[in-house]
Amino acid sequence: MQTNSAHRDASEAARDHHGYAIPHSRPYLADDLEAAAREITATGMIGPGRHVARFEAEMALLHKAPGAVATNSGTAALHLALLALDIGPGDEVILPSYVCTAVLNAVRYVGAQPVLADICEDTFNIAPASVRRCITPRTRAIIVPHMFGVPADIAALQQFDVPIIEDCAQSLGATVGDVLTGSMGDFAVFSFYATKVITTGEGGMVLARRLEHVERMRDLRDYDEKSDYVPRYSYHMSNLAAAIGYRQLRRLPEFIQRRRSLARFYNEQLSGGTWRLPQHPPGSICYRYVVQVDHLEECIEAFAEAGIQAKRPVFEPLHRYIGGDLPVTEHVYRTALSLPLYPALTDADAEYVASIARGLGQARSHRTDRLEAIGAMTR
Ligand SMILES: Cc1ncc(COP(=O)(O)O)c(C=O)c1O
Repeated sequence: MQTNSAHRDASEAARDHHGYAIPHSRPYLADDLEAAAREITATGMIGPGRHVARFEAEMALLHKAPGAVATNSGTAALHLALLALDIGPGDEVILPSYVCTAVLNAVRYVGAQPVLADICEDTFNIAPASVRRCITPRTRAIIVPHMFGVPADIAALQQFDVPIIEDCAQSLGATVGDVLTGSMGDFAVFSFYATKVITTGEGGMVLARRLEHVERMRDLRDYDEKSDYVPRYSYHMSNLAAAIGYRQLRRLPEFIQRRRSLARFYNEQLSGGTWRLPQHPPGSICYRYVVQVDHLEECIEAFAEAGIQAKRPVFEPLHRYIGGDLPVTEHVYRTALSLPLYPALTDADAEYVASIARGLGQARSHRTDRLEAIGAMTR
C-alpha cells in the first residue's frame, strides 16, 4: 500500500468532522471540488449546464447504455425507473430486506407493494431461491442492489423474466467477468452521496437499456416548460454536482485499486482470528469490509473507545420495519460489522484499525478482556 500526504491531510480533517479519529466513511475529493467550483464561477452556470450532459454521456458510454439521466439522488433515480416501467398500485416489486430504506421508499412512492426477499449468506446479496418464492403474477420488477461492492447474481435472476433494476449505489466499477454491474439489467441506478464510491455531495443517475425508457425518465425528471401537464419532478442534477462527478469518475480506477489493496491488507491481518471475513470475488470493488462477529454491540463500543467508527452496514433491515420472516437477513443483521475502508484511509489508519480488530477478534468474549486488549494496544 502507498501512503501519501493527501491521505494524511484527509484523515486529519476527519478528526474535526466526526468526533472519531477514524470515521466509517469519508469522501476523497482531492482538488475536484475546487476545480469544479472554479469552472462554475467562471461561467455562472451553477444550475443547469453542459456538465450534466457530459457526466451522463460518460456514464452511458462506460455501461454501454443508450442513455443516462442524472438526478439529485439515488432514490430519485430508482423512483424514475419504477415510473418508466409504469409500476403503480396493485403491482408488486421484489427487493431484498437487507438494504437501506431508500429502496423501500421508492417502491412506496409509486404505490406498489414491496415484497421482501432473503439474501445469500456469503455475498449478502438477494438470493435467487428466495426471489423465486416471491414471484407472483403481479410481480413487475426486481430491484437488485449489489451490496458492499460485490456483484449480485443477475444471470440467475434473469430466468424469472421480470424487469431487473440493478442498484449500483455501492458497486460502480464492479464486474462479473469483464462486464460491469449496471450493464446487465433493464435499468441501473447509482448514488453519488457523500459516502459512495464516487461523490457529488448528493446525486444519482439512472441508465436504461431501452431508449424510450431513457426519454421517459428524462421527461419526468424536469417539470418546467412542457407542452402538456402530467405530474413531473424536480429531480435534476446541478451543473456544479456534475462538474464534480465527471472528475470523480476519472479517479474510479485509482479508487478501486486502493479499496482492493486495503481489503487485502485487512484479510492478511485478520485471518486466523475468530471473525468471519468477507468474501470478495475478483470483480468486487470492496466498497465495504464487512466481518461477522459475536457480540456486535460490544465490538462497536470497543472500536468507538479506540476512536474508530465501525458500524452495522445496514442500519435496520426492512423486514424489521414492515414485517417478514427472513432468517438469513436477520442473522447477518445481528452479526455484520463494517470496518472503515475507503480511498482516503491512510496506511497508518488501516494498520491501527487492523490492530484493534485483531485484538477484538482474538480476545475472549468477555467484555473486560476486550477492553483490556484495547487498552494494551492503545497505550
Ligand atoms: C443500495 C442503495 N440504494 C439506494 C440508495 C439511495 O441513494 P441516495 O442516498 O443517493 O438517495 C443508497 C444510498 O444510501 C444505497 O446504498
